[in-house]
Amino acid sequence: MVKENLKGRSFLTLKDFTAEEIEYFIDLAAELKAKKKQGILGQSLKGKNIALIFEKPSTRTRCSFTIGCIDEGGHPEYLGSDDIQLGYKESVEDTARVLGRMFDGIEFRGFSQENVEKLAKYSGVPVWNGLTDEYHPTQILADFLTMKEHFGYLKGLNFVYAGDGRNNMANSLMIGSAKMGVNFTIIAPKSLWPTDELVELCKGYAKESGATITLSDEVSAVKGADVIYTDVWCSMGEEDKAAERIALLSPYQVNKAMMDSTGKDTTIFLHCLPAVKGKEVTEEVFESAQSHVFDEAENRMHTIKAVMVATLGNY
Ligand code: CP
Ligand code: NVA
Repeated sequence: MVKENLKGRSFLTLKDFTAEEIEYFIDLAAELKAKKKQGILGQSLKGKNIALIFEKPSTRTRCSFTIGCIDEGGHPEYLGSDDIQLGYKESVEDTARVLGRMFDGIEFRGFSQENVEKLAKYSGVPVWNGLTDEYHPTQILADFLTMKEHFGYLKGLNFVYAGDGRNNMANSLMIGSAKMGVNFTIIAPKSLWPTDELVELCKGYAKESGATITLSDEVSAVKGADVIYTDVWCSMGEEDKAAERIALLSPYQVNKAMMDSTGKDTTIFLHCLPAVKGKEVTEEVFESAQSHVFDEAENRMHTIKAVMVATLGNY
């Protein structure tokens, strides 16, 4: 039932998916990963053409969509912001209708969440959000696959996000955690907390899953964390905020003292990458045995492949 329900769907934010559907993406990714390690690739995207629209740069997401698509027999086509005139010379609605006539699926990375939603509405094909200012939903699948591989389960884990608590990563991690029963804490200065509206929505999901949602400006709230996560202090497009963010966020840097103050020697460190070492995380933690950031980066590919296969593939 879950499998059939996902066919033809867009992947715009985790708000649109149930816990069972999110679990399905993660487990399918694990299955595709295991097969690839044995040299077995599928053909579920054979004959499918996939547009990859990138208004912002990317290493992991671009490569994951490209390789994931080719591994399954599909054809990816990269469309950078200098290649098409999305939103300035041609409206998003018109571009969507043109691409929808030619492509079977569209990935979009850019600024506005409204634009990825418009692409989905007007193209008539599955659209996958490869990051907007508001959300980065495919990243959460990779993070949760990494946690599931490491701990064996997700429900009941204590997850602490330290840093810019109102960016795309914090928003999407809070939604995903609330849905999946992961206890979620943000430690950040109050001025960088997520919107009340999103917190209330997530508290509703959390009630159903049994998760807790905590916002704190105290670093001591890392106590009991199984996972400590951070992201850059200035997201793409916010480079002019560097001085302000360094002043606000320096006390929330993930360093050895913070890792030690969880009271657990099993705490792991995750980061969506790219990282600015010496700012949101020290080199020491990044390079430590507690850091699983490169498993996490690899898992972008397996999870993004799973999203394409589940929503578009003959699988
Ligand atoms: N984590 C992530 O989305 O990386 P890229 O910006 O390299 O795609
Ligand atoms: N918050 C970061 C995430 C990068 C994957 C950004 O938007 O730049």
